[in-house]
Amino acid sequence: MARIFEISIFCVAIFVAMAVAEDYDVGDDTEWTRPSTADFYTRWAAGKTFRLGDILEFEFREGMHDVAIVNKEGYDNCNKANPMTLFQKPPVKVTLNTTGTHYFICTVGDHCTVGQKLAVTIAGAGAPPAPVSGPTTPPGTTTNSSGAAGGESPPSGSAASIAGVGFFAAAMSVAIALLN
Ligand code: CU
Repeated sequence: MARIFEISIFCVAIFVAMAVAEDYDVGDDTEWTRPSTADFYTRWAAGKTFRLGDILEFEFREGMHDVAIVNKEGYDNCNKANPMTLFQKPPVKVTLNTTGTHYFICTVGDHCTVGQKLAVTIAGAGAPPAPVSGPTTPPGTTTNSSGAAGGESPPSGSAASIAGVGFFAAAMSVAIALLN
């Protein structure tokens, strides 16, 4: 019985994890191209919160552009010499599966120099701000037992849901780990 409960929670966690992962079209309608302003992709990324498991999708005309995954030096200096990976066939989908900053440039012509470059940062793990730490009343301490039925009716709601949230969080991280 408990097993079924755990399994269903786990399934829900997986579902939520999948629903949470976002799919970003880099540049939106502009797609991945030689931009009109040097900070176009910086501004595109600004204000977005990228998370583990999110996917960046680069759309472009084959042969006109490419997507090179580079290090910070490659990004800063538009150094095309040693990309970690070079994708030339659109659409290019990159799953962000490590924390830190991910750098992308186009190696065609002067494209990177004029702004066809993207840096996306994923904050470290444990980012979600402690959702469970709210109620400080330990499960046992039944507050306000005002003479009434002092028996065994704890405020089951809170204790149970706290345990549930804890388990949910655990299942969630397992699910995320599996998905990556
Ligand atoms: Cu290009």
